[in-house]
Amino acid sequence: MVNVAVLGYGTVGSGVVQVIEDNNEVVCKKSGTDVKMKYILDLRDFPGDPYEKYLVHDFNTILEDDEVQVVCETMGGVGAAYQFTKQCLEKGKTVCTSNKELVAKHGPELLEIAKNNNCSYLFEASVGGGIPIIRPIMDALAAEKIESIIGILNGTTNYILTKMEQDKAAFEDVLKEAQALGYAERDPSADIQGHDAARKIAILSSLMLGETVDSDKIYTEGITGITADDFAFAADAKQTIKLLGVSKVTEDGKPLTYVAPFMIDKSHPLAMVNDVFNAIFVTGNMVGNTMYYGKGAGKLPTASAVCADVIDGARHVGKNVPCYWENKEAALAPFSEASHSFYIRIKADASAELEKLIPGGKFLTADVAGQKAYITPVITEKKYYETAATLGDAILSRVRVYQ
Ligand code: HSE
Repeated sequence: MVNVAVLGYGTVGSGVVQVIEDNNEVVCKKSGTDVKMKYILDLRDFPGDPYEKYLVHDFNTILEDDEVQVVCETMGGVGAAYQFTKQCLEKGKTVCTSNKELVAKHGPELLEIAKNNNCSYLFEASVGGGIPIIRPIMDALAAEKIESIIGILNGTTNYILTKMEQDKAAFEDVLKEAQALGYAERDPSADIQGHDAARKIAILSSLMLGETVDSDKIYTEGITGITADDFAFAADAKQTIKLLGVSKVTEDGKPLTYVAPFMIDKSHPLAMVNDVFNAIFVTGNMVGNTMYYGKGAGKLPTASAVCADVIDGARHVGKNVPCYWENKEAALAPFSEASHSFYIRIKADASAELEKLIPGGKFLTADVAGQKAYITPVITEKKYYETAATLGDAILSRVRVYQ
């Protein structure tokens, strides 16, 4: 018998309890043992809640109970969640989490503590919500040299970009609509500025490389500068715009990781991922291209991924489920050395000068008065910024083109 405690009875935590209770037969069968909910930790009271009987307010009740072998951390943040996770692992309790911020910030340290205490730190739900992606990279693709991971890793921004394209709407209007629908947070900055996606690609990159990629050191650009005019020009090039998290190995063997909006050909499988859906495109040197698609957020999809980890934890009580992720910082190639083709939207009267500065590109047409858009050949970031400095505020926007 395995007893489970859930830390934090919010959206994901209540989903975890629901999956363990409602799907108990399947959870037990696949665990090979009885799996029982024992505690829910929350500061709040939930009078009348069907699972009120599990509620405790003191973390030590869970920590000191040797019958609890698996703990689900669904609190979020890097404060109490970090302390509680550490303490549980030090006691030999496996911790399953959806907390991408904590995994990105302290993942390798917590994995090491788990290893030293014959338990596991499992985080399938931290990237892509209900989409299986951590386990495919760690297990199903274990024999691969992974060459690249490219993901639509944030549902809020994917919803906003999809609606901007479909409804020819302005960013601010769609953001308000997404907030009204509950897709975007009241403070949406981590999503729209790309930090949420940066944490997720940092976790995936760390698994790809086996070394730690610090999310704070990843070049990160959000979607706040994208306009309906950009989508109008993108349509002429048969492209759309997506916020991508990218991790790849450069030709000289250095890892390069970044988050930015990209123009992407409409025929690419990632271009077809719309609304709040996420998708991750993984290329291995033997298997070639693979893609993982589904709901990247939400109560039950995320809870389902946490519960898959609960089952893994229940199967491995007293043992460590290994994870190839060393507590050593990966030496990333500087983003300034990257090269891309750029889409540049510019005031019409400066377009000839742009073509002179970066020849060999092509102009796009759209019904946008007084403006032109130009797709450059592949150039370095440095070349783009030199050109932008020369043209000043004649440049209205720019988006890299995914190739
Ligand atoms: N805010 C995140 C998103 C939630 O929009 O994808 C899931 O991490």
